[in-house]
Amino acid sequence: MAPADPHDLIAEIRALKAERHAAILAHNYQRPEIQDLADVLADSLQMARRATELDAPLLVICGVHFMAETAAIANPGKRVLIPDPDAGCSLAATIQAADVRAWRTEHPDGLVVAYVNTSADVKAEADYCCTSGNAVAVVTALPPGVPVLFLPDFFLGQYVKRVTGRDIDLWLGECHVHAALTRETLEQRRTQFPDAEFLVHPECGCVTSAMYYAEAEGDVAAGRMGIVSTEQMMRRARSSNARQFVVATETGVLHRLRRENPGKEFIAAAESAECRYMKMITLENLRDSLRDLKYEVSVPPETAARARRAVERMLTIG
Ligand code: 13P
Ligand code: SF4
Repeated sequence: MAPADPHDLIAEIRALKAERHAAILAHNYQRPEIQDLADVLADSLQMARRATELDAPLLVICGVHFMAETAAIANPGKRVLIPDPDAGCSLAATIQAADVRAWRTEHPDGLVVAYVNTSADVKAEADYCCTSGNAVAVVTALPPGVPVLFLPDFFLGQYVKRVTGRDIDLWLGECHVHAALTRETLEQRRTQFPDAEFLVHPECGCVTSAMYYAEAEGDVAAGRMGIVSTEQMMRRARSSNARQFVVATETGVLHRLRRENPGKEFIAAAESAECRYMKMITLENLRDSLRDLKYEVSVPPETAARARRAVERMLTIG
């Protein structure tokens, strides 16, 4: 069968969305055609916040599975769909609920801060959730003198540890896409684009080097090295006077950065930084999702109730 015409698919998606009173929430890493159709296009934090603010009874999450679970946890009265249930996350897969319980056994008074890139089962074991957009604010808000475990991203954890000055246990998880953006990648781009401003996601393997340059007095990059979530990248690109930016994260963000800043140039730190899970959402499966009401994401009520406390804290801090 010949592939469907994208224009027909887009028209079908719009009609189904209206008929179902649905809202489409897409992450900044989605394919351009999905980004252009979204009612909400944002980072993990804003996606989660907007999911609770929208009136729509049906939320279609164009992102990865943990994002749909988070929407389901925070919105027990709404129906949540994901167009491809296999859109997972290699970072979320690095930790299980039993790992958190094991740490708690050794630290009965400890607090667990779980990055939103975790399963609902892990969130249910956590005290606080956070995203890259508010991780520093969440850790800063913790009571002093208590042992803390930050999970599962080691690079983001290192960044938070350094900025807050707090002694934190770090889980050794990483995202394969961001970990591949190393110190060497950063060095190469600094040499190639000495005048550019750098936008670096804190999950990147190069985050420690980026922090070093951002703090190093006299370094040409000081003041031009932002360690930011994808939504903060959007804000920084808008407000900065720079004309050229090197962007260290998944390459999906380039579409929105370019669309919103026509006079500025955005260069990928590495073109290969593509998340195959994020790209599993297509016009076809988004249309099928709205047409056939699949794939519904629900979290068992007992797990959701336990996870909700940590998720709600994430939504209110920072
Ligand atoms: P944001 O925190 O900017 O949403 O990006 C993190 C990420 O990798 C989403 O999976
Ligand atoms: Fe997970 Fe990494 Fe993909 Fe984000 S980019 S969804 S952290 S695998």
